Amino acid sequence: MTRRIRLVSGLIMFSYLISHFTNHMLGLVSLDAMEAGLRIVYPFWSYPLVSWALYGAFAAHFSLALWALWQRRTLRMPVAMAVQYVLGFTVPLLAIQHATLTRIAESFYGADRGYYTNVLFGLWHTHPLNGALQALLLVIAWTHACIGLRYRLRLEPWYDRMQPWLYTFALLVPVLALLGYAEGGREVLERIAREPGFPEQATYGRPTPEVQDELADIVAWGRGFVLGSIAAVLAARQMRRWLQARRGLVRIGYPSGQSIDVVRGTSILEASRMLRIPHASVCGGRGRCSTCRVRVRGKAGALPPPSKDEAAVLRRVGAPPNVRLACQLRPRGDVEAVPLLPPLVHASEGFRHSGQLHGSEKEIAILFADLRAFTRLAETRLPYDVVFLLNRYFAAMGHAIEEAGGRVDKFIGDGIMALFGIDDGAEAGCRHAIEAARLMSLGLDELNRALEHEIDAPLRIGIGIHVGPVIVGEMGYGPATQLTAVGDAVNTASRLEALSKEFACELVLSDDVAVRAGLDMTAFELHEVDIRGRRQPLVVRSVRHGELLPAPAAA
Ligand code: FES
Repeated sequence: MTRRIRLVSGLIMFSYLISHFTNHMLGLVSLDAMEAGLRIVYPFWSYPLVSWALYGAFAAHFSLALWALWQRRTLRMPVAMAVQYVLGFTVPLLAIQHATLTRIAESFYGADRGYYTNVLFGLWHTHPLNGALQALLLVIAWTHACIGLRYRLRLEPWYDRMQPWLYTFALLVPVLALLGYAEGGREVLERIAREPGFPEQATYGRPTPEVQDELADIVAWGRGFVLGSIAAVLAARQMRRWLQARRGLVRIGYPSGQSIDVVRGTSILEASRMLRIPHASVCGGRGRCSTCRVRVRGKAGALPPPSKDEAAVLRRVGAPPNVRLACQLRPRGDVEAVPLLPPLVHASEGFRHSGQLHGSEKEIAILFADLRAFTRLAETRLPYDVVFLLNRYFAAMGHAIEEAGGRVDKFIGDGIMALFGIDDGAEAGCRHAIEAARLMSLGLDELNRALEHEIDAPLRIGIGIHVGPVIVGEMGYGPATQLTAVGDAVNTASRLEALSKEFACELVLSDDVAVRAGLDMTAFELHEVDIRGRRQPLVVRSVRHGELLPAPAAA
């Protein structure tokens, strides 16, 4: 609920900023254009329901910021988050003056201040310091909003792709708004110098000096309220800390041997920050990304059960019972915590399934394929031609593998490794791998027909398939991390692919694959082969051409 209120209130205020800043941008056209824009924007935001939604959003957002400050057991936090807090609390301190001199003056004191000309006259001519502060407010409010939105959006799968556009938007809006604001101010100053009656026109409806004093009091009270609220929360935190410390501390230990005694209610993520232990927290501790997850061990009663939201995130990543979100877990007794993700993880790594992330043993079918004599072919062609040919080949083979239900693991030079049965088991994996070999063979025939006039001799392929236990998991580094498999069965599949050359055939598969696929493969020749690294010879079948393999309907 808190999260939803924060999001909705933030979005309402963000919409207000966008419309207000767009209105500022019209200053790049003229002061009249700004006034014309205001005649559309102002009535909308002045509509009672919309007005109250905006004020409500502001009050809710401010209250939630105070609540978040209260909930923290430490003020140590990532820089972006600290900047967001400081900017967020600065906004009401600066905005209250502008709001009081326009909205409050108009609504409660009958002042007629709802025009750009009046406001710009005041900000650029009468009180230029206030004008500079308003420009600063624009930047502060926008930066605060953008940091908040980034924390929210970076978990979306499309965020990386859209990042350049989002950054451009985030930069262009305030720059254009500031330029419009400056142009509007310049026009006001020019008209003061040029038109003798302009100052009277621009100060029309100005509150009387008595009202101005009252408005100044409102601003002072408002600022006092904001600063007082922040000070009260900080003081209350201090008091709580003191009281809780008297009731006893809990110890949180880490694999590095470090440990810290903290008051009850401190989250493990906060404890990591207190100890300056780098700890992943892509969503900033909001319990949404799962990147902070830890394996915990503690006495009975030390670990409160996960909340509904935490349990949902843990379920989503398939976390075992001893894994919890460090930002949500506030131990009641001594615990040991092992952070599971490296501190610099990317947002997308948060929702990887635990089993994939840490590796799990599975029985799957592995297919290796290699283009025969391609090195010789490549030597006689331009690099561009080689890339073109390879990409056509990879596209055809990749399509065949996916159509059969497999997963392309990697392209290595002109070779391909594919995995089958990760999710649906070894038997289905064997069937799918054989079907992939058949489709790859047919796909290669088709490709050869299409390239008939491009290449001297048709492309030929060698395929090896084996089934066996492997470790499946996310492996690699940074953006090169991917789900892959390692183990003896992978090496064997690769050797079978190499054997296809020796047997002058297109496919060599272990007999175990044929048996477990439940297909009648007796038509294909049987061999016993020695595979390096295996004590027992392996029984395999050689298939001269993949299109001779039984189609699924014949299975
Ligand atoms: S930091 Fe994102 S879930 Fe804990």
